[in-house]
Amino acid sequence: MVGTVIFGLVLASSCHSLASLSQRYGRPPTLDVVHSLLTPIWVPQLRQRWRFRAHRSQLPPGPKTIRTGVRKPWLWFQELTKEYGDGDVVYIQMGPTPTIILGSAQAAWDLLEKRGAIYSSRPRFIMGGELLSGGMRGLMAPSSAFWRRWRKALHNGFMQRQSESYRPIQNLESRVLMHDLLTNPKEFRTHLERYAASVIVTVTYGRRVEDARTDAVVRANAESMSRLTSVNNPGKFAIERYPALKYVPSIFAPWKAEVLRQRQKDINMYLGLVNEVKDKMKREVAVDCFTTYLIDKQENHGLDDLELAYAAGSPFGAGVETSAGSLASFLLACVKFGQGFIPKAQAELDKVVGSDRLPTFEDMVSLPYVTAIVSETLRWRPITVLGGTPRASIADDTYRGMFILKGSIVIAPLWSIHLNENDFPDPHRLLPECFLEERQYPGLFGHSAFGWGRRVCPGLHLGHPSVTLNIARILWGFNVSLAKNERGENIEVDMLVNLFAFSDGFNSSPLPFECLITARSSKHVQVIEQEFQDALRHLKNYAADSED
Ligand code: HEM
Repeated sequence: MVGTVIFGLVLASSCHSLASLSQRYGRPPTLDVVHSLLTPIWVPQLRQRWRFRAHRSQLPPGPKTIRTGVRKPWLWFQELTKEYGDGDVVYIQMGPTPTIILGSAQAAWDLLEKRGAIYSSRPRFIMGGELLSGGMRGLMAPSSAFWRRWRKALHNGFMQRQSESYRPIQNLESRVLMHDLLTNPKEFRTHLERYAASVIVTVTYGRRVEDARTDAVVRANAESMSRLTSVNNPGKFAIERYPALKYVPSIFAPWKAEVLRQRQKDINMYLGLVNEVKDKMKREVAVDCFTTYLIDKQENHGLDDLELAYAAGSPFGAGVETSAGSLASFLLACVKFGQGFIPKAQAELDKVVGSDRLPTFEDMVSLPYVTAIVSETLRWRPITVLGGTPRASIADDTYRGMFILKGSIVIAPLWSIHLNENDFPDPHRLLPECFLEERQYPGLFGHSAFGWGRRVCPGLHLGHPSVTLNIARILWGFNVSLAKNERGENIEVDMLVNLFAFSDGFNSSPLPFECLITARSSKHVQVIEQEFQDALRHLKNYAADSED
């Protein structure tokens, strides 16, 4: 999905209130058609406008004009939250749908966490969520019985205890990552992506990824994600403004025929992957994984075969870029600020771990400085820069005297929240010390990188340990610094170019940059080599063709 999706969302929901969600969420399609065709679409709008006018003086502050076609909307949102509303709550009117931007950790916590009953739904995604995905993608689903079933399956599959059972996989793949960084450091980004994809695919389908560029599962999933991205293109499809077009027969609507063809490809892919696991289960060669768990508990979760197949596909879309991108941000921070924190982290690692073995998950409780670096990395450059998929409110609400209309789109951009100077006075510097000090911040972590309330990241107990273990191991084994040119001189990283050179899109991760990754000593090299060889022996159990 892309960053511009926000504006797509606004368009998508602009002609409809949340009450007109499709049959998948409990409303018969005929009603949707009636609502769109027979009931004039301006009736709900008029109702909304009336309530809106009645509360006009209580609306949160915001600009009179809006910007369109913004490639990095979070930068604009940050400007708005600085300019209006003391950085807390800003209101923008994009089309007839009010959009609320939350710019502080406290406001996001108060609304998305404490008032989760009101703020956990989603706006309508007509092309991406309804037509392309048939309402099967829980991430885009509004609060509904389906979403609760999907969410429960994800929660149970990735809650802390269950995620701990995936740690051996993270440990083994991380040893491969360390070896890749040792032997081919220049390609570090490819290695991070392979690590993240392999953990997710192994945890989900029980088979690992040796090369993310050629792996069939990775390619199929990546294609599916790119299909989703291509339809979440605001302004591209009139259906987002005229939802009744959804019911035009495909024969008269080539765009619809195309999207339905794409949907069938996704269905084939997701069902195909689950059927492979079912087949292995029958032959008793399946490795325990999220999909075997979903199949075993299918009845308990009340998921039909297709819902199950899409649920199994959810971790790929949500967990690969977030994990790999966070590690890439960490390396970027090492290049720029490493002199300030790497020596301290290495002193801690040398004391607690020594040089005879790699750090383990069990070491983390004894590594407060290293874990502070992890928290600060997630705070400093949040990959989920918009705070996840936008929410929609399902009831009128008042917050600190400000009126928030039912059906508003609510966005809590982590770029504004994590770089809010009231909470983090020097926000663009990586300063792990702030996670070692007593500090007021809502919630348990001292940052909001995994979101809030009922939509909080269900992969937190998988994603956070991945980032933590690998940051600890990189710091343990390597020095990371500025890259050198052929003459051995440092290639200067221009602060303005690199620290702000992040991709556009729904998630934002560092654009390519160079850095020098070198082993700390021959002893460290030896340990990395040994642990890698040992990992390869164990990983044979997860080879893509291990059952044959
Ligand atoms: C460092 C890694 C990760 C970060 C920083 C991260 C962050 C986030 C954030 C900020 C959200 C939005 C929460 C909200 O709306 O309040 C989210 C949602 C989500 N994450 Fe993660 N995530 C990570 C890894 C993972 C992994 C490994 C999985 C795999 C299971 C995953 C699965 C999901 C799903 C399915 C959602 C949507 C939840 C919903 O709509 O109900 N994430 N994540």
